[in-house]
Amino acid sequence: MEPTIHHGLAGVYFAESDICHIDGERGELFYRGYDIRDLTEATYVEVVYLLWHGELPTAKQLEDFRAELVPHYPIPDKVMELLLCLPPGTDPMHMLQAAAAMLAAFDQNPDEIDPDNLRRIGLSLVVQFPNLVATFERLRRGEAPLEPRSDLGLAGNFLWMLNGEVPNDAAIRVLNTALLLHAEHGSNASTFTARTSASTLTDAYSAIAAAVGSLKGPLHGGANEAVMRTLEQIGSVEKIEQYVLDTLAKPRGRVMGFGHRVYRVLDPRGKILRDVAEKLAETSSEAKYFHMSLEMERVMEREMNARGKSNIRANLDFFSASVYRMLGIPVDMYTPVFAVARVSGWMAHLYEQYADNHLVRPRLQYRGELGKRFVPLAERG
Ligand code: CMC
Repeated sequence: MEPTIHHGLAGVYFAESDICHIDGERGELFYRGYDIRDLTEATYVEVVYLLWHGELPTAKQLEDFRAELVPHYPIPDKVMELLLCLPPGTDPMHMLQAAAAMLAAFDQNPDEIDPDNLRRIGLSLVVQFPNLVATFERLRRGEAPLEPRSDLGLAGNFLWMLNGEVPNDAAIRVLNTALLLHAEHGSNASTFTARTSASTLTDAYSAIAAAVGSLKGPLHGGANEAVMRTLEQIGSVEKIEQYVLDTLAKPRGRVMGFGHRVYRVLDPRGKILRDVAEKLAETSSEAKYFHMSLEMERVMEREMNARGKSNIRANLDFFSASVYRMLGIPVDMYTPVFAVARVSGWMAHLYEQYADNHLVRPRLQYRGELGKRFVPLAERG
């Protein structure tokens, strides 16, 4: 019997999970049972705790968790040397992928996959990712790297290490929201990559490096950069409509930042970020990109409805692009910022995968020829 091919594994469930639930029809997202809209009142670090421990921390647990993160703040000297060796044009996602693998080399115990060791590695990566991204940005601008400030928290320290100024509370709050919205999303491509790697019982660093590579693609985490590059190229609100029409008229034309494998309605994270962006736009000199985004959303909604594709709506990456713009984050740092957040979700999935491991090994339906006669090299014409 011919096997059923599930292109892109659409609709396939490969494991049970307690971490995240997405209701694509209703546009709802839950981390460990909590509605994402309610979680926006928490900080990113509370959400990391929630993802790893299954419950929100008490004040004391949060204080202890923060204290556990502190020793992981400094970037190892040798990893810093690696950053200094990279040419200025290096894609920051390539840097992050290399750095994730390098961190294993400076870990005394990278291979153990018991929960305690995984948690230790997770604490390190959650802190190292933002520090590496911010430090890389400073180095390529020709600026000296800054000592981390653990007292500012994960989001505040990231902005500090990036800009060399203590950020205001509003900026910290916005980045916190963006980070917690990006932290987890079920079996998306990069998380599936992490779990697939882990299913071979490779180490956590290898699985995370693989996930970084998967996130980079423009159909996944790379979409936020693609959105901003598109807006830059279009240039003004007035030109949005023609751009959308021209793009949709092309065979397989895609407007970046729209569509999702699971959501059939507006991504709830996109809605939250749209509200955040609207607030930022009241005072930002970069508000133009938000206004262009609103116009693009309007035209896309009209055009998709007209084509019977009303399920193609703005996704998380669409409004995160204008939020990052207004926070002053360089465009090629948008996907690394996504990785900074998602590393906590990847780690949550590694705990789950290793705890009940089954090698991920789907099949491909062979459609080539069989029984070809081998011809020695000298006789091949
Ligand atoms: N613009 C125009 N048409 C679209 C778009 C879009 N962005 N997305 C989907 N469609 C159409 C597509 O042309 C197809 O039409 P038809 O059936 O006539 O060929 C239909 O909708 C279904 O699309 P699909 O590609 O079969 O659906 P998928 O589930 O395989 O793709 C997706 C999901 C995210 C890859 C796709 O929507 C896309 O390429 N979007 C643009 C890239 C993007 O924004 N990615 C971020 C995803 S969300 C956050 C994350 O994971 O990072």
